[in-house]
Amino acid sequence: MKTATLLCLCFLGFSYSLAASSEEDVYEYLWEKNKDIANKTLGTDFLVQMQNGSLQAERYVSFTIQDIGYLLKVTKMLKRMSGKETQPTELRDFMKGRYSSYKTFADSMLKQYFFKSEPLIQQTPAMRKYLSFYRHLMEKEDPLYFAVGLLPCARLWPWLSNNLSTPPTNAYYTWKRDNMGGHPEKYRDLLNKNLNTTKKVAKANAIFRTQMQNEHDFFSSS
Ligand SMILES: *[C@@H]1O[C@H](CO)[C@@H](O)[C@H](O)[C@H]1NC(C)=O
Ligand SMILES: *[C@@H]1O[C@H](CO)[C@@H](O)[C@H](O)[C@H]1NC(C)=O
Ligand SMILES: *[C@@H]1O[C@H](CO)[C@@H](O)[C@H](O)[C@H]1NC(C)=O
Ligand SMILES: *[C@@H]1O[C@H](CO)[C@@H](O)[C@H](O)[C@H]1NC(C)=O
Repeated sequence: MKTATLLCLCFLGFSYSLAASSEEDVYEYLWEKNKDIANKTLGTDFLVQMQNGSLQAERYVSFTIQDIGYLLKVTKMLKRMSGKETQPTELRDFMKGRYSSYKTFADSMLKQYFFKSEPLIQQTPAMRKYLSFYRHLMEKEDPLYFAVGLLPCARLWPWLSNNLSTPPTNAYYTWKRDNMGGHPEKYRDLLNKNLNTTKKVAKANAIFRTQMQNEHDFFSSS
């Protein structure tokens, strides 16, 4: 019903305040509109084999190294984003929070895999495409859309982990366990409050979909 209302309003070209109507949950709308890609990602050969334990270890190692490369690059971008004089302040605070969290996680990954300093990682074409879209958001768009661009990863990985029926005896169980506990809801208030016109919602949806596809392409090429 909520989705139908939103689509209707879009269709009529109304500009309206989502804040005025607590009914509208843009955060949820973005996910529901693009869940088809989440489902497609769950069906990639990489995740199917991870779930049943037949995934070759080298593929998982390559995936992990690309993931570390992603973490390092996005952490750097978040550092830049959190240094900007972004308005509203809640958006700036959000970037600072994301930066701090990404930094802590990136540092722990480097430590876990014995890197004494940041490694130079050759990106796969899929990863290059994903990161170049992030760069576009950072350089060319309102910071609000950088937050939108971060959400697919934050929302997809916990969803995938929860949907994989990997048993604890599976070699890849830790991937499931470590990603199940994400909290993408931290994006909800920020997006619902600031994506307050049909035009902004449409733009956010296009960006969200691009980044969901980039996530999918990372898994399907791993
Ligand atoms: C999800 O993907 C599978 C194939 O991986 C397909 O069979 C199924 O119909 C899809 N479900 C939805 C709701 O899209
Ligand atoms: C695991 O998945 C692969 C690829 O889909 C399949 O070929 C294989 O038979 C599956 N193995 C088990 C034990 O289910
Ligand atoms: C994924 O898990 C959610 C609950 O976390 C469930 O509602 C959904 O049906 C699952 N989807 C698939 C494709 O297994
Ligand atoms: C919509 O959000 C922007 C900030 O993203 C704010 O400046 C503006 O006042 C809001 N408009 C309404 C009608 O709430």
